[in-house]
Amino acid sequence: MIAFTEERLARAEEIIARYPEGRQKSALLPLLHLAQEQHGWVSAEVMDYIAEKLGIEPVEVYEVATFYTMFHLEPVGKHVIEYCRTGPCCAMGGEEVYAYMKEKLGVSSNQTTADGLFTLKEVECLAACGWGPCFQIREKFYMHLDNAKIDQIIDELSK
Ligand code: FES
Repeated sequence: MIAFTEERLARAEEIIARYPEGRQKSALLPLLHLAQEQHGWVSAEVMDYIAEKLGIEPVEVYEVATFYTMFHLEPVGKHVIEYCRTGPCCAMGGEEVYAYMKEKLGVSSNQTTADGLFTLKEVECLAACGWGPCFQIREKFYMHLDNAKIDQIIDELSK
């Protein structure tokens, strides 16, 4: 059965309590983050659980979770590389660098390497346009990417 751990349940309740009665839906994004932190991804069962916690319809959770690319709707690898495919990053060499990264990992976007270490995810602007091409792994940004940096980062994270 899907349920928050005791510690996450306490955090969820504290977050929900920040909002006035009838506005519990405002806690949806932080609860989705909490759930993904616990499970690694957000399944339909997880979304239904959150809907129940907030007293809203499951579809209200689905529409938010499917809108934001930071939520993983399928199981992912240990490191999720969210790379920016928007114009400025591509104009600064992103297409070539990302092609090299895909070839090195042997996967395309929305795929996970056979060893379960890396998932590639194409996302829109990460708000680091002046430092592109770039990608994000959890809260960490990797910028001014080139093939040598891709080698260095992937090799380091593969250890
Ligand atoms: Fe890539 Fe903005 S275009 S970070």
